[in-house]
Amino acid sequence: MTAVKTLKTNPCRERHDRNAVGVELKSLCKSFGSQQVLSDVSLEIRPGEIFTIMGPSGSGKSVLLRHIAGLETPNSGIVTINGRDPREPETRDRFALAMVFQAGALFNSLTVYDNLALYPLEHHIYPKGEVHDRVMRALQILSIENTANKIPAELSGGMKKRVAIARALVMEPQLILYDEPTSELDPVMGATIAEIIATLKEQFTVTTIVVSHDRDLALTISDRVAILMGGRLIAVDTPAGIRASRLPKILEFLNPQIDLRNPRFKQLESSNE
Ligand SMILES: Nc1ncnc2c1ncn2[C@@H]1O[C@H](COP(=O)(O)OP(=O)(O)OP(=O)(O)O)[C@@H](O)[C@H]1O
Ligand SMILES: [Mg+2]
Repeated sequence: MTAVKTLKTNPCRERHDRNAVGVELKSLCKSFGSQQVLSDVSLEIRPGEIFTIMGPSGSGKSVLLRHIAGLETPNSGIVTINGRDPREPETRDRFALAMVFQAGALFNSLTVYDNLALYPLEHHIYPKGEVHDRVMRALQILSIENTANKIPAELSGGMKKRVAIARALVMEPQLILYDEPTSELDPVMGATIAEIIATLKEQFTVTTIVVSHDRDLALTISDRVAILMGGRLIAVDTPAGIRASRLPKILEFLNPQIDLRNPRFKQLESSNE
């Protein structure tokens, strides 16, 4: 059973052109100092699809997502959302974009309600009454209306993830970027969040980009999956294509075996000698 409630109408949606957006990355390269983090990454993410980027820790997934959110400047290459640079304020005015950060990025001193209402009120995006309706609606969609007056410290990890998603929904985004939405959750809550992401995509006209280690989520709800290793894309395919891959790196990443006779950390130690 999904935790997402179905709501049929929302008068706010008629106001703007609400088509889902497409994202394109062309030969993206990014380094921090001498460390090359992204190398020649090219991708086309289609309007309305759920696209998941998987890869080991440190492979550059969050950095990639931050480029799409317009929070990083590439060393070379191009990132566009419907042909526009996501760093430009006009792009942000034109398209509703939202990011669900890896650590939630909730303000600990504010209630859940105020966390959701802060951005649209501070930026005078909607009148106060409309912000209230949108906040309550987002909480209702995620079945967390009862958290409105709590502060984040009073919530479990799964609740915080839902609040972070609800905050993204207040702006009715055409593009949602999720960074590790199921990390640190138990398997059932992880599956619930995956159901929420998939249902939101069905309910709203939204392009969804997910960064995740979660194999079940990636291979169940995605239209396509990319695998990033060492800052390079080594595969972009449908979940069925990824499952069928015989590439040793992908096989090991998706099905790691614990090998006590030849442990990986010993291999690392001997390669450093
Ligand atoms: N602002 C920054 N300054 C310097 N180095 C950075 C910065 N942001 C990321 N890095 C480095 O870039 C590399 C990739 O980081 P990133 O956060 O994208 O990894 P990730 O794939 O998201 O890992 P995880 O799965 O653990 O979240 C890491 O080595 C990280 O230390
Ligand atoms: Mg990350």
